[in-house]
Amino acid sequence: MVGERTARFRAPDAPESIPPSFALAAPAEARGSVAEAFSPRPRFARFEDRHLIRIETEHAWSLYGTGEVAGPLLRNGRHTIAWNTDAYNYDSTTRSLYQSHPWVLGVRTNGTAFGVLVDTTHRVGIDLAEGILFEADGYQPAVYVIDAPGPEEVLRELASLTGRMDLPPFWSLGYHQCRYSYMTEDEALEVASEFRRRRIPCEAIWFDIDYMDRFRDFTFDKERFPDPAGMVQRLAERGFRSVFILDPGIVADPADPTYADGVERDHFVRDAEGREYRGTVWPGVCAFPDYTRSATRHWWADLIDTFVTTVGMDGLWNDMNEPAIFDGPGRSMPVDCIHRADADLGGPGTHARYHNVYGMLMIRATKKGMLRARPERRPFVLTRSNFVGGQRYAAMWTGDSTSSWDHLGWTIPMILNLGLSGQPFAGCDIGGFSENADAHLFQRWTGIGSLLPFSRAHSDKGTHRHEPWSFGEDCERVCRLALERRYRLLPYLYTVFREAAETGLPVMRPLFFADPTDPSLRSAEDSFLLGRDVLVRASRDPANGCCDPMPHGRWRMFEPANACHHDLPELFLREGAIVPLGPVRQFSGEKPLDPITLVISLDRHGHAEGTLYEDAGDGFAYRDGDYLLTTYTAEREGPRVIVGIRGAEGSRPRPLRAAEILILLDDGTVKRSVGVGGDNIPVLIDQPRC
Ligand code: GLC
Repeated sequence: MVGERTARFRAPDAPESIPPSFALAAPAEARGSVAEAFSPRPRFARFEDRHLIRIETEHAWSLYGTGEVAGPLLRNGRHTIAWNTDAYNYDSTTRSLYQSHPWVLGVRTNGTAFGVLVDTTHRVGIDLAEGILFEADGYQPAVYVIDAPGPEEVLRELASLTGRMDLPPFWSLGYHQCRYSYMTEDEALEVASEFRRRRIPCEAIWFDIDYMDRFRDFTFDKERFPDPAGMVQRLAERGFRSVFILDPGIVADPADPTYADGVERDHFVRDAEGREYRGTVWPGVCAFPDYTRSATRHWWADLIDTFVTTVGMDGLWNDMNEPAIFDGPGRSMPVDCIHRADADLGGPGTHARYHNVYGMLMIRATKKGMLRARPERRPFVLTRSNFVGGQRYAAMWTGDSTSSWDHLGWTIPMILNLGLSGQPFAGCDIGGFSENADAHLFQRWTGIGSLLPFSRAHSDKGTHRHEPWSFGEDCERVCRLALERRYRLLPYLYTVFREAAETGLPVMRPLFFADPTDPSLRSAEDSFLLGRDVLVRASRDPANGCCDPMPHGRWRMFEPANACHHDLPELFLREGAIVPLGPVRQFSGEKPLDPITLVISLDRHGHAEGTLYEDAGDGFAYRDGDYLLTTYTAEREGPRVIVGIRGAEGSRPRPLRAAEILILLDDGTVKRSVGVGGDNIPVLIDQPRC
């Protein structure tokens, strides 16, 4: 049922049978209907063959969301078109990017908030010039409106409508290294060894399309990658995960076994005349699996199952799944192509209707295949294209940016708006994808990128090398510090991811989440929050400086990894918070979380509290209670501060480990104490002056 805070509206003349929703996590039919006294109320109209949905707003209200958009955080006055597009080298004037989210979040002057979701897979114009105007092609959509006391509650409600991300494997929160492409096994192993030799933390090496034989899915170039399973194993021995790319286009060559099988079983999208549709992508002329059919998703999942079982990679990357087609209209498939969708997805229909969910259906099948191959492991999939609700299947990144200060600048607001559209696990190509970064841009980008929910460096073919050591010793040192910071923060980040998986709240949150009633925070985009307690203050232009105001209350600066450098963002801790940190590790599984560091910022009453979520880091035993959720408290008592555990949840035994306590003082110094009895023994430390 729709919760009390959500109402479903339909135009008075809407036909009885509304097509099934893709955005929603449960069937639309099971949901409630219009609440009479609901605000804001959409007004429905028609203009030619478009459905108009208008919502009045006040000028001072702040509008966000609309999914993946480059440009400012605040979307007032902007026009977006929800239509998944391969947007190489996009900028802030590009109206359609890789993902579509017909969704707007509004924050009123008093801090209360609302959200509007237009439930259609068709192309939707979202015009925020004067109030909110959606212009939807295709069928008359239903509209969900959420009205809540604040933005957090709106996002929780959105998640109960559209689903939540699954808790990702712990390793996927580490730092990832990619390039288009590491061309041989030797090159990949050499990059991996360099990370270890130079003591720069790194979790995974990624394989772009050049691992394949002529860019054909499910193949390997036999000369350059003669033993893929062995290579994955050799990387694993050095503590590296491996992730491989797969695109939807299957080369239309009868000699290609995937194509031949797909033709025989009739899995490809058809053109308007009913013939196999063909378009050109990396491998040449291709056919495209029709993921709207469960039989085709099943077939794809089987292919994935075999691929993953044979090679043993840790994750898969689904790209070009808008779908991107070099010689197609708008770089995609003609809108009159035919999908033979199953009845439960709405039945056969044109590409105009299914375009925006093509990528989401692909990643749904990819995730299923990974689970089939390894039911005991959490699947990790990265996608470029997606749709509302796609957080259920994959993490995502912001596509083909440019190595420029403008693109670095858009990174923070883009990923914030993805989070505000229900997609918490997002990142960008650190360093920028096309063209060349220089040392200054690269180190600044790594500083910010290492604090994003998904952290991966990537760069285009033909660019200079963009590994952390490619820009000289100074830049290498700054990148190392940035990544050491990320690894120190992993226990906190994982705790925030767990909260996001449970509630739908973003991992990376705009500053106004700290105080939705403060209008000065509404457009802050140099700064952001990680969870509730850590504030990141970055600078996105070549000159240093962040102009954002700070939220009210005392935010004390802290530094987890001695990473004081003017090109790295500053970190602050909310008063009253305790943040758990781990040791610097070269990869997440290198050694256990020992010692655990608790960074404490007492509030004016001398109190602080924080949580740490731990589990096996992979697998699903946590769903049966195999986890440990600890609440730490700190209390000033006379001349001392007493740190202890207030409570714990879950059946996972508490590991024996040392606890290091850091209390942030007002004069910027830190009081340090080491608990000898493990982190379950109250630690007494001398009264600090705060
Ligand atoms: C697309 C992707 C990019 C990838 C390239 C080659 O442009 O966005 O990340 O490197 O294709 O596969």
